[in-house]
Amino acid sequence: MAMRIQFSHHGGPDVLEYTDYNPIAPGPNEVRVQNQAIGLNFIDTYFRSGLYPPPALPSGLGTEGAGIVEAVGAGVSHLQVGDRVAYATGPLGAYSDLHVLPADKLVKLPDATSFEQAAAVMLKGLTVHYLLRQTFPLKGGETVLFHAAAGGVGSLACQWAKALGVKLIGTVSSAEKAARAKEQGAWATIDYSHENVAQRVLELTDGAKCPVVYDGVGKDTWETSLDCVAPRGLLVSFGNASGAVTGVNLGILAQKGSLFVTRPTLAGYADTPQRLQWMADELFAMITSGQLQVDISQRFALKDAAAAQTALSARQTTGSTILLP
Ligand SMILES: NC(=O)c1ccc[n+]([C@@H]2O[C@H](COP(=O)([O-])OP(=O)(O)OC[C@H]3O[C@@H](n4cnc5c(N)ncnc54)[C@H](OP(=O)(O)O)[C@@H]3O)[C@@H](O)[C@H]2O)c1
Repeated sequence: MAMRIQFSHHGGPDVLEYTDYNPIAPGPNEVRVQNQAIGLNFIDTYFRSGLYPPPALPSGLGTEGAGIVEAVGAGVSHLQVGDRVAYATGPLGAYSDLHVLPADKLVKLPDATSFEQAAAVMLKGLTVHYLLRQTFPLKGGETVLFHAAAGGVGSLACQWAKALGVKLIGTVSSAEKAARAKEQGAWATIDYSHENVAQRVLELTDGAKCPVVYDGVGKDTWETSLDCVAPRGLLVSFGNASGAVTGVNLGILAQKGSLFVTRPTLAGYADTPQRLQWMADELFAMITSGQLQVDISQRFALKDAAAAQTALSARQTTGSTILLP
């Protein structure tokens, strides 16, 4: 018998139940992982609330974790029982003792990377990889805007941008979060709880605005973000922490300066085993070289996943949060 978090209907964190279950055996080309640490992500709250529909209810939750291969299905040749692995995409169900997923969603962990580190960075770090290295390949020297810079993805983005020689302007909602984003490598911060973001971006860029704006906040920052993009620049709208952006009139892109917009996902970038491995190799290299410090600011027991999600949604967390089975 194993334990997991599941939900039978959509709602707030209180719909999450910690319950025992019979883990299925891995099928062909699948692997069963004994989780050692699990990543908490904002996307988990979208599946719980119903913003993103899960395939079926009751449903498991979570897509990020690290652990030990405990069983392998037929046809799996590159992994064996006992391997240390991590994952960031695949079926829901990472909030569990044992998780079954396709073998090609897993990467082997370097010896130097702990399970906790991996669970804290796989989804968020691979996201930063594609945002900064692929969606808008930064060369160094650019000044960019990144919302929620003290959060999970944001903290890693601050560090990675600094390593690339990019000036990252990070938005935050408090003085404490501003200090944290600065510690992580942000070049400047804007407290959007009381500062005018577009005005401050104009000042900080001497009127040039940013060639790219990264927006994981969504609804509340959409128009402001467009105002911060330089003519013909790119808005990367990659999340919905404040709610989804809907009902967009494409004409606004013309009015704001012939802008481009993309709405990417990690699954869309790490879409083959080769691409996943390449991205993970670069992420782990950033960690082992010391350019990326994995900061786990919050740890919760798996059974307390509801409390962890409450803290995340209430903007009480900074950096990465992990759940421990
Ligand atoms: N598309 C992808 O591939 C992908 C992958 C990973 C994550 N994401 C997205 O990236 C964003 C960050 O994810 P994360 O897991 O690292 O979360 P997080 O940044 O640790 O937490 C979300 C942060 O958003 C800010 N925020 C602004 N308005 C908010 C509101 N109304 N409610 C709650 N938070 C609000 C808060 O920071 P302040 O208090 O400083 O405002 C909060 O700490 C999320 O939108 C997530 O969905 C997208």
